[in-house]
Amino acid sequence: MSSGFDFDHEINREDSNSVKYDGRQAMFGKNDVIPVWVADMDFAAPPAVTQALAQRAAHPIYGYTLFPDSLYDSLIDWMQRRHSWVIQRDWIVLCPGVVPSINAAVMAFTQSGESVIIQPPVYFPFFSAVMQTGRKLIQNPLHLANGRYTIDFNHLEQCAKDAKLLLLCSPHNPVGRVWQPAELERLLDIAAKHDVVIFSDEIHADLIYPGNHHHTLAAFPEYNAKIITAVAPSKTFNIPGLNLSALIIPDQSTRNAVTQVFNTLHISASNPFSIAAFEAAYCEGEAWLEALLIYLRDTRDCVEAFLAKHVPEIKVIKAEGTYLLWLDCREWNRTDAQLKHFFIHEAGIGMSPGTLFGEEGSGFMRLNIGAPRQTVLSVMQNIKQAMQNNRPNHLG
Ligand SMILES: Cc1ncc(COP(=O)(O)O)c(C=O)c1O
Repeated sequence: MSSGFDFDHEINREDSNSVKYDGRQAMFGKNDVIPVWVADMDFAAPPAVTQALAQRAAHPIYGYTLFPDSLYDSLIDWMQRRHSWVIQRDWIVLCPGVVPSINAAVMAFTQSGESVIIQPPVYFPFFSAVMQTGRKLIQNPLHLANGRYTIDFNHLEQCAKDAKLLLLCSPHNPVGRVWQPAELERLLDIAAKHDVVIFSDEIHADLIYPGNHHHTLAAFPEYNAKIITAVAPSKTFNIPGLNLSALIIPDQSTRNAVTQVFNTLHISASNPFSIAAFEAAYCEGEAWLEALLIYLRDTRDCVEAFLAKHVPEIKVIKAEGTYLLWLDCREWNRTDAQLKHFFIHEAGIGMSPGTLFGEEGSGFMRLNIGAPRQTVLSVMQNIKQAMQNNRPNHLG
């Protein structure tokens, strides 16, 4: 490839304890589906990351580890360079994963029985973070019209009256929206008016398709809403198994409330390998990311064109960000159980069922296109063939 990064290269991930590959039997009841479900990619991490890990591994003592200044600097520089957000070192709280942080925020800002708003269809741990901690779930479903999802602000305003916390997914998994400034400002307005804390999960913020722009919620200076921003190199550089993310929390009392939860549970994220990878990715991974974004855009466009031509029963919701495509299968008129059976057993594909993201996901499937083009094309061919076998005029 001209970029020097070979995203077409197929790497065998079987027997590597990969959730995506080695978890197929448990998830789909069979091992031979093409796995396009859980959100990691089938691409090698940037060379700078693998080199940094090899270098750290070469030192044979893997003891308790400090967070070096250079680690903080790598994030501060990245946020300024890529997101035009100038942050201070004090604002950063390093933590293992974004999901534990969502749970920590729920514990920090709500009491048992108090309410948290989520906007389904949405990444499923948003539900469990609220339910498992005994909080009340308030749902403000996204509105779908003309193939595009938007926030129902009138309903959000009603919800906010009773809520303490809002979990925002920005960009939004699974529908692929990259929220625009006017949308974020309206959301901030409502949160500030009703004194609702916002947890802004921006884990996909670096994965934006050309023509779209991610706006960091906390970078709108004129609002004094309490915001916790979660970011990570995990999705961006395909290192989610290393488990290191960061919260950026400008307001001190908000920050103290979250760190208190982590301290109580004695959760530390300091791991010599994740530190090496985090820093190398943010400092030296940018060219790799630029090439990846072009590759993903071309794959997304390929999938859209293929399905429009060969499988018109399935409509692709246009993704503005993320490597997750939200497939609208509703016109095909199948129950969720039938869809599941069709894709697993007739097409041989392991996708995430839409209902995983809430009842609004009924009739949808989520396709992970973070894989060599050839893999994604095989998925397309399998769907086309299986669909042909299903059409009423099929003879064979
Ligand atoms: C919106 C969102 N948040 C969080 C995560 C997972 O974060 P972590 O692995 O850091 O817990 C994902 C993974 O798919 C995600 O899509």
